[in-house]
Amino acid sequence: MKTRILKPDATALHEAAALLRNGRLVGFPTETVYGLAADALNTQAVNAIFEAKGRPGDNPLIIHIAEIQELDRLIRVKPSPVARRLMDAFWPGPLTLIFPKSDIVPACTTGGLDSVAVRMPSHPVARELIRLSGVPVAAPSGNRSGRPSPTAAAHMMEDMDGRIEMIIDGGECDVGVESTVVDMSGDVPRILRPGGITREMIAEIAGDCKVDSTVMRPLKENERPKSPGMKYRHYAPAGQLTIFHGECENVIAAICETYDHAQSEGHRALILALEPHIARYGDRRCVSLGRDATEMAHVVFSALRGADDAHAEVILSESVEAEGIGLAVMNRLGRAAAFHIVEVD
Ligand code: TXA
Ligand code: MG
Repeated sequence: MKTRILKPDATALHEAAALLRNGRLVGFPTETVYGLAADALNTQAVNAIFEAKGRPGDNPLIIHIAEIQELDRLIRVKPSPVARRLMDAFWPGPLTLIFPKSDIVPACTTGGLDSVAVRMPSHPVARELIRLSGVPVAAPSGNRSGRPSPTAAAHMMEDMDGRIEMIIDGGECDVGVESTVVDMSGDVPRILRPGGITREMIAEIAGDCKVDSTVMRPLKENERPKSPGMKYRHYAPAGQLTIFHGECENVIAAICETYDHAQSEGHRALILALEPHIARYGDRRCVSLGRDATEMAHVVFSALRGADDAHAEVILSESVEAEGIGLAVMNRLGRAAAFHIVEVD
């Protein structure tokens, strides 16, 4: 199969929508990352997603809808008043809510769970594609399992060439990290995966918001996370990634020292640094993480892909504070590093 990359004009979107209705897979842009779309209610199509990604079958998919009315038939009980308020505030947008699933949602879509994750993306191409297809769209991030999520059509092509029929190219994704996944089963919303809608934003609407403890630490042996995706090694570059945290001057000094040591031992090293610090590393190899946490969210996955492209064996990264969008950035970087974080104060 030859994978085509098409601009999001009306012809391409109609063709993509027809593919979805026929149980085929399509790559498409969202405001977070590129997704791998299929009809969420078609068991064969959903199985093809797991196959194309090389994804374990117990890791559930998010269902994407274009209109709020489409939620009703996917869920078993009406959303709580708090869930309603969150949907009013943040849909369409990078917020995924988990509800008890209805019988029409196949078990393969939810990885065998009795709950279903739903989101309404804000990207106009994503919404138009879902609307034209007329089906609820299951879509994980469009990477092969274990690779960083794609934030551009070219990234998705690297991972999916020959595995799917087409990728709709909507340019670079706006947010750069995946949606915030929130468990609504308790009294207080609980973030299972941080993303573009921050804990602070949710707390302002819902009164309170918890962050699951698995977000910023490795799992214990035999621990079963609420979000099954958490247990898999995600976003991982081939090289050994270490994150440095602490006072800026000390971080830069520690990274320089570790870099020089690695190079002297014959290992190819690479630094992921905030833009204003890059000059401080002299002629050491650096990739920019942007100027702040928001820019870092935008580039973190392409920086990790870049580290692979550069065949870096030792990757040394600066960090930001784990608050606001910084929580999502540090969760992705942390997991890519298997939470190998050096405190340098
Ligand atoms: O921004 C996004 O959410 C992107 C774009 C394409 O929409 N999609 C995405 O999907 O990131 P995926 O499959 O890569 O990540 C879905 C995450 C996984 O960690 C999965 O375990 C969790 O959501 N999840 C899905 N359904 C769940 C459920 N019923 N209960 C708990 N966690 C669930
Ligand atoms: Mg993913």
